[in-house]
Amino acid sequence: MRNPRRGFRVCVLFVLIPFLCWVESVNGIGANWGTQSSHPLPPETVVRMLVDNGIQKVKLFDADYGALRALSKSGIEVMVGIPNDMLSTMASSMKAAEKWVSKNVSAHLTNSVNIRYVAVGNEPFLATYNGSFLRTTFPALQNIQAALVKAGLGAKVKVTVPQNADVYESGASGVPSSGDFRADIHDYIFQITKFLNDNGSPFTVNIYPFISLYIDSNFPVEYAFFDGQATPVNDGGTTYTNMFDANYDTLVWALQKNGLANMGIIVGEIGWPSDGDRNGNNEYAQRFMQGFMSRVAGGKGTPMRQGPIEAYLFSLIDEDEKSIQPGNFERHWGVFYYDGQPKYALNLGTTVTGALVPARNLKYLQRKWCVLKDSVKMDDPSIAQSVSYACALGDCTSLGYGTSCGDLDAKQNISYAFNSYYQINNQVDEACKFPNVSTVTKDDPSTGSCRFGIMIEPYYAGADERRASVGFLVGVVLLLLMVL
Ligand SMILES: *[C@@H]1O[C@H](CO)[C@@H](O)[C@H](O)[C@H]1NC(C)=O
Ligand SMILES: *[C@@H]1O[C@H](CO)[C@@H](O)[C@H](O)[C@H]1NC(C)=O
Ligand SMILES: *[C@@H]1O[C@H](CO)[C@@H](O)[C@H](O)[C@H]1NC(C)=O
Ligand SMILES: *[C@@H]1O[C@H](CO)[C@@H](O)[C@H](O)[C@H]1NC(C)=O
Repeated sequence: MRNPRRGFRVCVLFVLIPFLCWVESVNGIGANWGTQSSHPLPPETVVRMLVDNGIQKVKLFDADYGALRALSKSGIEVMVGIPNDMLSTMASSMKAAEKWVSKNVSAHLTNSVNIRYVAVGNEPFLATYNGSFLRTTFPALQNIQAALVKAGLGAKVKVTVPQNADVYESGASGVPSSGDFRADIHDYIFQITKFLNDNGSPFTVNIYPFISLYIDSNFPVEYAFFDGQATPVNDGGTTYTNMFDANYDTLVWALQKNGLANMGIIVGEIGWPSDGDRNGNNEYAQRFMQGFMSRVAGGKGTPMRQGPIEAYLFSLIDEDEKSIQPGNFERHWGVFYYDGQPKYALNLGTTVTGALVPARNLKYLQRKWCVLKDSVKMDDPSIAQSVSYACALGDCTSLGYGTSCGDLDAKQNISYAFNSYYQINNQVDEACKFPNVSTVTKDDPSTGSCRFGIMIEPYYAGADERRASVGFLVGVVLLLLMVL
């Protein structure tokens, strides 16, 4: 929503024509900008990418100073985030909440950053958190809202809480119309949602058909896609042919059931990974993303909510330092690779050519790679140790069954691991000195779908510089220890 407050008023004025409430919502697509990368693109480069691609909204996971400074005067709508590990502080101290708003919202607004939302926490009720944030999320939300009001920003900047889609569920029948908040956390979700609604704020939800497919091998693949040939689900005469619609409408019904029928909905994350799993590949990612974008561009909505869908793609760019605890696909959510190059054709409906516009003015390191020495015998005992070291500190998530480098032989596999470590460490000589088994080559070892990457030049901003070089020193020391 461009102006939720105004939207709210329009809804009140035209309460008999609720359709108009959704016309108020903004068209166009947003994107998530995550920064868990060994070599993040310079913030100015990312903002240029957003502008070039007609992406009008961006969602951050924190309030990164460099990113916000680069967004100044871009006009792009921004959602800043409060990470989960700050929730207890925000919950227990009004002062801390006021300071956060002052430093991370007011100061940037003054500098012409178009901040429109504060995301309080990120999927705080995810099962893996064991309920750690159940009690802190709501008070943190209340304090941040109060701090925004106190700073005179109550109308301009809205709070929200990005939720994972399992905070609501459908009943035994499995159809959207049986939707409600999940029984075991119903009261928490209701309290938060009602508070958001009372303040003219939207419900933000992350919807992932890919994850459904990943965790359930019986999930009908076709049902994940918008153009799929899945057997339709019949919900009292309304038919659903894809999971996104059914999931979104389950939320619509849950809100309705709880007296919040007119509440706005934002899809905070939606996307498909391109690697790291047998269902994570460019073909499926392209099919899902294009299906979704065509839906968004058509302004069609879901059976229960006609009209535009407000959504943020997950994600703009791959992040090679994301935790792979959920799965190797985690580092491959980008529509663009780590270096801002498009992975596949995608028409966002926002550019003249209908093509994605890559990042500009990139500086790559030299064209050289670290590989396994030809002469090495595969039974050399130091190989296994070197590979596990390289993969622990590099990125081997493109190796394995069904991935982009899944067809490599054992030797190429090892080279891939060595090269990843070497590139992530900026091609310094020491990073290709796996004892007696590695060597630097100028012949590109890439094959078919498997890219042996060359890293981009590191970008250092202020405090990050120290962190990066300390990280490298630690790496070198570890490597030396291993060699000795
Ligand atoms: C502002 O946000 C940054 C990034 O999330 C965080 O590190 C910092 O502590 C915040 N500032 C305040 C005053 O809370
Ligand atoms: C959640 O519980 C599991 C099992 O009890 C534990 O292994 C994990 O570390 C816990 N996670 C958090 C975030 O507390
Ligand atoms: C290559 O590495 C991956 C991941 O470690 C492994 O699953 C696969 O079996 C390896 N392939 C060969 C041919 O060694
Ligand atoms: C490397 O090779 C040399 C010569 O073959 C040998 O003397 C040395 O022990 C090897 N080092 C390691 C760590 O395997």
